[in-house]
Amino acid sequence: MLLLALACATSDGTDSADPVVDGEVAWYGDVEPIVTQSCAGCHVAGGVGGFALDTFESAAPMAEAMAAAVETGRMPPWDAAPGCNTYRGDLTLDADAVARLRAWADAGAPAGDAADSAPGEPPVEALDRVDVTLSMPEAYTPNGATSDDYRCFLVDWPVEEATYVTGYRVVPGNAALVHHVIAYIASPLQVEEYQGLDDAEAGVGWTCYGGPGLGDQSDAEWMGSWAPGGSSGAFPNGTGIKMKSGSKVVLQVHYNTAGGDAGSDLTSVEVMTSDDVDAPAYIQPWTDPTWLDGTGMDIPAGSEGTEHSFTMTNTWSPFQVHTASMHMHQLGRTGGLEIEHADGSTDCLVDVQDWDFNWQRTYVLAEALTVEEGDKITVRCTWDNPTEEDINWGEGTGDEMCLGTMLWSF
Ligand code: HEC
Repeated sequence: MLLLALACATSDGTDSADPVVDGEVAWYGDVEPIVTQSCAGCHVAGGVGGFALDTFESAAPMAEAMAAAVETGRMPPWDAAPGCNTYRGDLTLDADAVARLRAWADAGAPAGDAADSAPGEPPVEALDRVDVTLSMPEAYTPNGATSDDYRCFLVDWPVEEATYVTGYRVVPGNAALVHHVIAYIASPLQVEEYQGLDDAEAGVGWTCYGGPGLGDQSDAEWMGSWAPGGSSGAFPNGTGIKMKSGSKVVLQVHYNTAGGDAGSDLTSVEVMTSDDVDAPAYIQPWTDPTWLDGTGMDIPAGSEGTEHSFTMTNTWSPFQVHTASMHMHQLGRTGGLEIEHADGSTDCLVDVQDWDFNWQRTYVLAEALTVEEGDKITVRCTWDNPTEEDINWGEGTGDEMCLGTMLWSF
Protein backbone atom coordinates (compact mmCIF):
# COMPACT_ATOMS: atom_id res chain seq x y z
CA MET A 1 0.00 0.00 0.00
CA LEU A 2 2.70 2.38 0.99
CA LEU A 3 4.63 1.80 -2.19
CA LEU A 4 1.49 2.37 -4.20
CA ALA A 5 0.86 5.64 -2.41
CA LEU A 6 4.43 6.56 -3.10
CA ALA A 7 4.04 5.94 -6.82
CA CYS A 8 1.27 8.53 -6.85
CA ALA A 9 3.18 10.97 -4.69
CA THR A 10 6.36 10.87 -6.74
CA SER A 11 6.49 14.31 -8.23
CA ASP A 12 9.44 14.07 -10.60
CA GLY A 13 7.39 12.40 -13.29
CA THR A 14 9.05 8.99 -12.98
CA ASP A 15 6.94 5.89 -13.48
CA SER A 16 6.91 2.52 -11.77
CA ALA A 17 10.47 1.88 -13.00
CA ASP A 18 11.63 4.34 -10.35
CA PRO A 19 13.70 2.46 -7.78
CA VAL A 20 11.67 4.17 -5.03
CA VAL A 21 8.59 2.33 -6.17
CA ASP A 22 10.46 -0.97 -6.28
CA GLY A 23 11.20 -0.49 -2.61
CA GLU A 24 14.89 -0.03 -3.34
CA VAL A 25 15.11 3.22 -1.50
CA ALA A 26 18.71 3.77 -0.49
CA TRP A 27 20.52 6.17 1.82
CA TYR A 28 22.67 7.56 -1.02
CA GLY A 29 20.56 9.44 -3.50
CA ASP A 30 17.18 9.04 -1.73
CA VAL A 31 17.37 9.59 2.02
CA GLU A 32 20.62 11.51 2.48
CA PRO A 33 19.37 14.73 0.78
CA ILE A 34 16.22 14.75 2.94
CA VAL A 35 18.21 14.31 6.13
CA THR A 36 20.80 16.92 5.16
CA GLN A 37 18.16 19.54 4.57
CA SER A 38 15.62 18.83 7.31
CA CYS A 39 17.40 16.94 10.11
CA ALA A 40 21.17 17.47 10.06
CA GLY A 41 21.01 21.05 11.35
CA CYS A 42 20.26 19.51 14.76
CA HIS A 43 21.10 15.81 14.40
CA VAL A 44 24.84 16.16 13.92
CA ALA A 45 27.62 15.24 16.36
CA GLY A 46 27.45 17.82 19.16
CA GLY A 47 24.17 19.25 17.85
CA VAL A 48 20.97 20.03 19.74
CA GLY A 49 19.22 16.92 18.38
CA GLY A 50 21.17 14.84 20.90
CA PHE A 51 22.30 12.21 18.39
CA ALA A 52 23.63 12.31 14.84
CA LEU A 53 21.71 11.22 11.76
CA ASP A 54 23.87 12.88 9.13
CA THR A 55 25.84 9.84 7.96
CA PHE A 56 24.68 6.44 6.75
CA GLU A 57 26.36 4.78 9.76
CA SER A 58 24.56 7.00 12.27
CA ALA A 59 21.17 7.02 10.54
CA ALA A 60 20.73 3.35 9.54
CA PRO A 61 20.19 2.00 13.10
CA MET A 62 17.63 4.80 13.63
CA ALA A 63 15.69 4.22 10.39
CA GLU A 64 12.50 2.95 12.03
CA ALA A 65 12.47 5.73 14.64
CA MET A 66 13.09 8.32 11.93
CA ALA A 67 10.19 7.08 9.81
CA ALA A 68 7.89 7.03 12.84
CA ALA A 69 8.94 10.52 13.93
CA VAL A 70 8.21 12.06 10.53
CA GLU A 71 4.95 10.14 10.05
CA THR A 72 3.54 11.49 13.30
CA GLY A 73 4.88 14.97 12.52
CA ARG A 74 6.98 15.09 15.72
CA MET A 75 10.01 15.70 13.53
CA PRO A 76 11.23 17.92 12.08
CA PRO A 77 10.04 20.57 14.57
CA TRP A 78 8.27 23.25 12.54
CA ASP A 79 5.22 24.94 14.01
CA ALA A 80 4.58 27.75 11.52
CA ALA A 81 1.31 27.08 9.73
CA PRO A 82 1.54 26.94 5.94
CA GLY A 83 -0.13 29.71 3.96
CA CYS A 84 1.03 32.54 6.23
CA ASN A 85 4.45 33.30 4.73
CA THR A 86 7.42 31.51 3.21
CA TYR A 87 10.58 31.02 5.22
CA ARG A 88 14.25 30.45 4.58
CA GLY A 89 15.26 26.89 5.37
CA ASP A 90 11.72 25.53 5.66
CA LEU A 91 12.19 22.07 7.18
CA THR A 92 8.73 20.76 6.35
CA LEU A 93 8.72 17.44 4.54
CA ASP A 94 6.31 16.73 1.69
CA ALA A 95 4.41 13.45 1.42
CA ASP A 96 7.03 12.06 -0.94
CA ALA A 97 9.86 12.60 1.54
CA VAL A 98 7.88 11.00 4.38
CA ALA A 99 7.10 8.00 2.16
CA ARG A 100 10.77 7.67 1.19
CA LEU A 101 11.86 7.54 4.82
CA ARG A 102 9.20 4.90 5.53
CA ALA A 103 10.15 2.82 2.47
CA TRP A 104 13.84 3.02 3.42
CA ALA A 105 13.11 1.78 6.96
CA ASP A 106 10.88 -1.02 5.66
CA ALA A 107 13.60 -2.11 3.24
CA GLY A 108 16.06 -2.54 6.12
CA ALA A 109 17.87 0.79 5.63
CA PRO A 110 20.12 -0.11 2.68
CA ALA A 111 23.14 2.09 1.94
CA GLY A 112 22.97 1.95 -1.85
CA ASP A 113 25.91 3.15 -3.88
CA ALA A 114 28.11 5.88 -2.36
CA ALA A 115 28.69 7.12 -5.91
CA ASP A 116 25.04 8.33 -5.86
CA SER A 117 25.77 10.60 -2.91
CA ALA A 118 24.32 14.07 -3.49
CA PRO A 119 23.77 15.50 -0.04
CA GLY A 120 22.20 18.71 -1.36
CA GLU A 121 22.05 22.08 0.38
CA PRO A 122 23.70 22.38 3.80
CA PRO A 123 21.24 22.99 6.65
CA VAL A 124 20.62 26.64 7.55
CA GLU A 125 22.00 25.99 11.03
CA ALA A 126 25.53 25.55 9.68
CA LEU A 127 27.89 28.53 10.18
CA ASP A 128 30.50 29.61 7.63
CA ARG A 129 33.03 30.08 10.41
CA VAL A 130 33.26 30.41 14.18
CA ASP A 131 34.87 33.62 15.47
CA VAL A 132 33.96 33.43 19.15
CA THR A 133 32.99 30.52 21.38
CA LEU A 134 30.98 31.48 24.47
CA SER A 135 31.03 28.89 27.21
CA MET A 136 29.33 28.64 30.62
CA PRO A 137 31.84 29.69 33.33
CA GLU A 138 31.77 26.20 34.88
CA ALA A 139 29.74 23.00 34.67
CA TYR A 140 26.29 23.09 36.30
CA THR A 141 24.31 20.19 37.80
CA PRO A 142 20.52 20.83 37.74
CA ASN A 143 19.18 21.32 41.26
CA GLY A 144 16.65 18.49 41.02
CA ALA A 145 14.01 20.47 42.96
CA THR A 146 11.69 20.19 39.97
CA SER A 147 12.11 18.39 36.67
CA ASP A 148 12.40 21.77 34.92
CA ASP A 149 15.33 23.89 36.00
CA TYR A 150 15.70 27.27 34.26
CA ARG A 151 19.17 28.60 34.90
CA CYS A 152 20.96 31.73 33.70
CA PHE A 153 24.73 32.06 33.34
CA LEU A 154 26.72 35.26 32.93
CA VAL A 155 29.30 34.68 30.21
CA ASP A 156 32.22 36.91 29.24
CA TRP A 157 32.17 38.43 25.78
CA PRO A 158 35.81 38.24 24.74
CA VAL A 159 35.79 40.89 21.99
CA GLU A 160 37.01 44.26 23.23
CA GLU A 161 35.93 46.51 20.36
CA ALA A 162 32.30 46.99 19.38
CA THR A 163 31.30 44.40 16.79
CA TYR A 164 28.24 42.72 15.25
CA VAL A 165 26.95 39.21 15.83
CA THR A 166 26.07 37.82 12.40
CA GLY A 167 25.20 34.22 13.29
CA TYR A 168 25.43 31.62 16.01
CA ARG A 169 25.02 27.94 16.83
CA VAL A 170 24.21 26.39 20.21
CA VAL A 171 26.34 23.41 21.27
CA PRO A 172 24.65 21.69 24.22
CA GLY A 173 27.14 20.17 26.66
CA ASN A 174 24.79 17.42 27.80
CA ALA A 175 22.04 16.84 25.27
CA ALA A 176 20.19 14.51 27.66
CA LEU A 177 19.54 17.51 29.94
CA VAL A 178 19.51 20.63 27.80
CA HIS A 179 16.07 21.35 26.47
CA HIS A 180 16.64 24.78 25.07
CA VAL A 181 19.01 27.72 25.23
CA ILE A 182 18.54 31.44 24.69
CA ALA A 183 21.28 34.05 24.57
CA TYR A 184 20.58 37.57 25.88
CA ILE A 185 22.83 40.59 25.65
CA ALA A 186 23.91 42.08 28.97
CA SER A 187 24.72 45.69 28.06
CA PRO A 188 27.67 47.34 29.82
CA LEU A 189 25.16 49.16 32.09
CA GLN A 190 23.49 45.88 33.14
CA VAL A 191 26.54 43.72 33.74
CA GLU A 192 26.84 44.70 37.40
CA GLU A 193 23.17 43.96 38.13
CA TYR A 194 23.42 40.55 36.48
CA GLN A 195 26.54 39.86 38.51
CA GLY A 196 24.43 40.66 41.59
CA LEU A 197 21.85 38.04 40.62
CA ASP A 198 24.65 35.51 40.17
CA ASP A 199 26.26 36.36 43.51
CA ALA A 200 22.92 36.15 45.36
CA GLU A 201 22.54 32.43 44.64
CA ALA A 202 24.78 29.55 45.59
CA GLY A 203 26.56 27.78 42.74
CA VAL A 204 27.19 29.03 39.25
CA GLY A 205 24.38 31.13 37.71
CA TRP A 206 20.89 31.96 38.96
CA THR A 207 17.32 30.71 38.58
CA CYS A 208 15.41 32.53 35.83
CA TYR A 209 12.25 31.87 33.85
CA GLY A 210 10.75 33.70 30.89
CA GLY A 211 13.80 35.95 30.61
CA PRO A 212 17.20 36.63 32.16
CA GLY A 213 15.69 37.86 35.44
CA LEU A 214 16.31 41.60 35.40
CA GLY A 215 13.53 44.21 35.62
CA ASP A 216 11.03 44.10 32.80
CA GLN A 217 12.10 40.90 31.12
CA SER A 218 10.24 41.51 27.89
CA ASP A 219 12.71 44.34 27.27
CA ALA A 220 15.71 42.04 27.57
CA GLU A 221 17.74 42.20 24.39
CA TRP A 222 18.13 38.89 22.60
CA MET A 223 21.31 37.92 20.85
CA GLY A 224 19.92 34.66 19.65
CA SER A 225 16.65 32.87 19.94
CA TRP A 226 15.55 29.57 21.32
CA ALA A 227 17.25 26.34 20.39
CA PRO A 228 16.34 23.63 19.63
CA GLY A 229 13.71 25.02 17.40
CA GLY A 230 15.57 28.32 17.32
CA SER A 231 16.86 29.03 13.87
CA SER A 232 20.50 29.26 14.65
CA GLY A 233 22.76 29.90 11.70
CA ALA A 234 23.76 33.04 9.86
CA PHE A 235 21.44 36.05 10.26
CA PRO A 236 19.56 36.94 7.05
CA ASN A 237 20.05 39.75 4.52
CA GLY A 238 23.41 41.03 5.76
CA THR A 239 22.00 41.90 9.19
CA GLY A 240 23.94 41.85 12.44
CA ILE A 241 23.22 42.61 16.09
CA LYS A 242 25.56 45.13 17.68
CA MET A 243 27.61 44.14 20.69
CA LYS A 244 28.93 47.21 22.53
CA SER A 245 32.34 47.04 24.01
CA GLY A 246 32.05 45.92 27.66
CA SER A 247 28.94 43.80 27.07
CA LYS A 248 28.47 40.27 28.36
CA VAL A 249 26.05 37.51 27.43
CA VAL A 250 23.44 35.80 29.61
CA LEU A 251 22.80 32.22 28.55
CA GLN A 252 19.47 30.91 29.76
CA VAL A 253 19.37 27.12 29.72
CA HIS A 254 16.24 25.05 30.35
CA TYR A 255 17.27 21.73 31.90
CA ASN A 256 14.75 18.93 31.89
CA THR A 257 15.66 16.17 34.32
CA ALA A 258 12.55 14.02 33.77
CA GLY A 259 14.82 11.39 32.20
CA GLY A 260 16.52 10.81 35.56
CA ASP A 261 19.92 11.78 36.92
CA ALA A 262 21.95 12.73 33.88
CA GLY A 263 24.85 14.55 35.53
CA SER A 264 26.14 18.01 34.71
CA ASP A 265 26.24 20.30 31.71
CA LEU A 266 28.69 22.72 30.11
CA THR A 267 26.90 24.33 27.17
CA SER A 268 28.53 26.69 24.70
CA VAL A 269 27.48 28.90 21.80
CA GLU A 270 29.53 29.35 18.65
CA VAL A 271 29.27 32.88 17.28
CA MET A 272 30.14 34.48 13.97
CA THR A 273 31.02 38.20 14.12
CA SER A 274 31.77 41.02 11.70
CA ASP A 275 33.12 44.56 12.15
CA ASP A 276 30.72 45.85 9.57
CA VAL A 277 27.27 44.79 8.35
CA ASP A 278 24.90 45.95 5.60
CA ALA A 279 22.02 46.43 8.05
CA PRO A 280 22.51 46.84 11.79
CA ALA A 281 19.49 45.10 13.31
CA TYR A 282 17.96 44.31 16.65
CA ILE A 283 15.40 41.92 18.02
CA GLN A 284 12.22 43.81 18.87
CA PRO A 285 9.74 42.26 21.31
CA TRP A 286 6.10 43.09 20.54
CA THR A 287 3.63 43.03 23.39
CA ASP A 288 1.09 45.17 25.23
CA PRO A 289 2.95 47.15 27.90
CA THR A 290 -0.21 47.19 30.05
CA TRP A 291 -0.10 43.38 30.37
CA LEU A 292 3.21 43.46 32.16
CA ASP A 293 1.89 44.46 35.58
CA GLY A 294 0.18 41.08 35.78
CA THR A 295 -3.46 42.23 35.61
CA GLY A 296 -4.23 43.05 31.99
CA MET A 297 -4.02 39.64 30.33
CA ASP A 298 -6.55 37.61 32.29
CA ILE A 299 -6.89 33.92 31.38
CA PRO A 300 -9.77 32.74 33.59
CA ALA A 301 -9.65 29.39 35.42
CA GLY A 302 -11.23 26.60 33.38
CA SER A 303 -11.42 28.66 30.18
CA GLU A 304 -10.72 27.48 26.64
CA GLY A 305 -9.49 29.59 23.76
CA THR A 306 -9.16 32.87 25.71
CA GLU A 307 -7.71 35.42 23.30
CA HIS A 308 -5.71 38.60 23.85
CA SER A 309 -4.22 40.77 21.16
CA PHE A 310 -2.31 44.03 20.90
CA THR A 311 -1.99 46.38 17.93
CA MET A 312 0.25 49.37 17.55
CA THR A 313 0.77 51.72 14.60
CA ASN A 314 4.22 52.49 13.22
CA THR A 315 4.65 56.20 13.93
CA TRP A 316 8.40 56.09 13.19
CA SER A 317 10.25 55.77 9.90
CA PRO A 318 9.71 52.76 7.65
CA PHE A 319 11.67 49.65 8.68
CA GLN A 320 12.33 46.11 7.51
CA VAL A 321 11.19 42.94 9.29
CA HIS A 322 13.47 39.94 8.68
CA THR A 323 12.29 37.28 11.15
CA ALA A 324 9.30 36.47 13.35
CA SER A 325 8.75 34.25 16.36
CA MET A 326 6.26 33.79 19.17
CA HIS A 327 6.72 33.32 22.89
CA MET A 328 4.13 32.01 25.35
CA HIS A 329 4.46 29.57 28.23
CA GLN A 330 2.90 26.13 28.74
CA LEU A 331 -0.83 26.93 28.23
CA GLY A 332 -0.49 28.69 24.88
CA ARG A 333 -2.59 27.22 22.09
CA THR A 334 -2.24 29.55 19.08
CA GLY A 335 -0.33 32.73 18.35
CA GLY A 336 0.66 34.99 15.52
CA LEU A 337 2.02 38.26 14.23
CA GLU A 338 0.47 40.27 11.41
CA ILE A 339 1.05 43.57 9.61
CA GLU A 340 -1.90 45.63 8.39
CA HIS A 341 -0.88 48.16 5.77
CA ALA A 342 -2.51 51.56 5.47
CA ASP A 343 -4.41 50.42 2.34
CA GLY A 344 -6.05 47.61 4.33
CA SER A 345 -3.96 44.77 2.88
CA THR A 346 -2.29 42.43 5.35
CA ASP A 347 0.93 40.42 5.59
CA CYS A 348 1.05 37.44 7.90
CA LEU A 349 4.47 37.12 9.57
CA VAL A 350 3.97 33.93 11.55
CA ASP A 351 0.96 31.84 12.52
CA VAL A 352 1.30 29.02 15.07
CA GLN A 353 -1.78 26.83 15.25
CA ASP A 354 -0.53 24.21 17.69
CA TRP A 355 1.73 25.88 20.23
CA ASP A 356 4.54 23.78 21.73
CA PHE A 357 6.63 25.49 24.41
CA ASN A 358 9.66 23.41 23.45
CA TRP A 359 9.82 24.49 19.82
CA GLN A 360 9.99 28.28 19.82
CA ARG A 361 11.62 28.64 16.49
CA THR A 362 12.57 31.94 14.89
CA TYR A 363 11.18 31.92 11.36
CA VAL A 364 13.34 33.74 8.81
CA LEU A 365 11.13 35.40 6.18
CA ALA A 366 12.17 34.38 2.67
CA GLU A 367 11.80 38.06 1.79
CA ALA A 368 12.04 40.91 4.28
CA LEU A 369 8.84 42.96 4.64
CA THR A 370 8.71 46.74 4.83
CA VAL A 371 6.56 48.33 7.52
CA GLU A 372 5.67 51.84 6.36
CA GLU A 373 4.66 54.70 8.59
CA GLY A 374 0.97 54.18 9.44
CA ASP A 375 1.11 50.37 9.14
CA LYS A 376 -0.12 48.41 12.16
CA ILE A 377 1.49 45.36 13.77
CA THR A 378 -0.67 42.97 15.78
CA VAL A 379 0.36 40.17 18.12
CA ARG A 380 -2.33 37.70 19.11
CA CYS A 381 -2.40 34.69 21.45
CA THR A 382 -4.95 32.17 22.67
CA TRP A 383 -4.72 29.86 25.66
CA ASP A 384 -6.53 26.96 27.28
CA ASN A 385 -6.48 27.16 31.07
CA PRO A 386 -7.55 23.83 32.58
CA THR A 387 -6.32 24.85 36.06
CA GLU A 388 -8.42 26.20 38.92
CA GLU A 389 -6.41 29.43 39.07
CA ASP A 390 -6.95 32.59 37.04
CA ILE A 391 -3.70 33.13 35.17
CA ASN A 392 -2.05 36.33 34.05
CA TRP A 393 1.24 37.69 32.74
CA GLY A 394 4.19 36.68 34.91
CA GLU A 395 7.64 35.17 35.09
CA GLY A 396 6.74 31.86 36.74
CA THR A 397 6.33 28.53 34.95
CA GLY A 398 2.61 28.68 35.84
CA ASP A 399 2.20 32.24 34.57
CA GLU A 400 1.79 33.21 30.93
CA MET A 401 3.19 35.62 28.38
CA CYS A 402 2.23 36.72 24.87
CA LEU A 403 5.16 38.11 23.01
CA GLY A 404 6.05 38.34 19.36
CA THR A 405 9.65 39.02 18.43
CA MET A 406 11.01 40.32 15.17
CA LEU A 407 14.45 41.14 13.78
CA TRP A 408 14.22 44.75 12.58
CA SER A 409 16.50 47.02 10.62
CA PHE A 410 15.90 50.65 9.64
C1 HEC B 1 15.52 21.98 15.23
C2 HEC B 1 16.21 20.80 15.66
C3 HEC B 1 15.80 19.45 15.12
C4 HEC B 1 15.58 19.09 13.81
C5 HEC B 1 15.70 19.96 12.57
C6 HEC B 1 15.22 17.68 13.84
N1 HEC B 1 15.24 17.22 15.11
FE1 HEC B 1 14.84 15.31 15.69
N2 HEC B 1 15.06 15.86 17.65
C7 HEC B 1 15.48 17.09 18.08
C8 HEC B 1 15.55 17.07 19.53
C9 HEC B 1 16.00 18.21 20.41
C10 HEC B 1 15.16 15.79 19.94
C11 HEC B 1 15.08 15.26 21.37
C12 HEC B 1 13.67 15.03 21.80
C13 HEC B 1 12.88 16.26 22.12
O1 HEC B 1 13.39 17.18 22.78
O2 HEC B 1 11.69 16.31 21.71
C14 HEC B 1 14.87 15.05 18.73
C15 HEC B 1 14.44 13.73 18.71
C16 HEC B 1 14.34 12.95 17.57
C17 HEC B 1 14.03 11.53 17.57
C18 HEC B 1 13.76 10.66 18.78
C19 HEC B 1 12.46 11.03 19.49
C20 HEC B 1 11.24 10.91 18.63
O3 HEC B 1 10.44 11.85 18.63
O4 HEC B 1 11.08 9.90 17.94
C21 HEC B 1 14.03 11.11 16.25
C22 HEC B 1 13.81 9.71 15.74
C23 HEC B 1 14.32 12.29 15.44
N3 HEC B 1 14.51 13.37 16.27
C24 HEC B 1 14.39 12.29 14.06
C25 HEC B 1 14.49 13.46 13.29
C26 HEC B 1 14.41 13.47 11.84
C27 HEC B 1 14.21 12.23 10.96
C28 HEC B 1 14.54 14.77 11.47
C29 HEC B 1 14.46 15.32 10.05
C30 HEC B 1 13.35 14.94 9.25
C31 HEC B 1 14.72 15.57 12.67
N4 HEC B 1 14.67 14.73 13.75
C32 HEC B 1 14.90 16.95 12.69
C33 HEC B 1 15.77 18.18 17.31
C34 HEC B 1 15.61 18.25 15.94
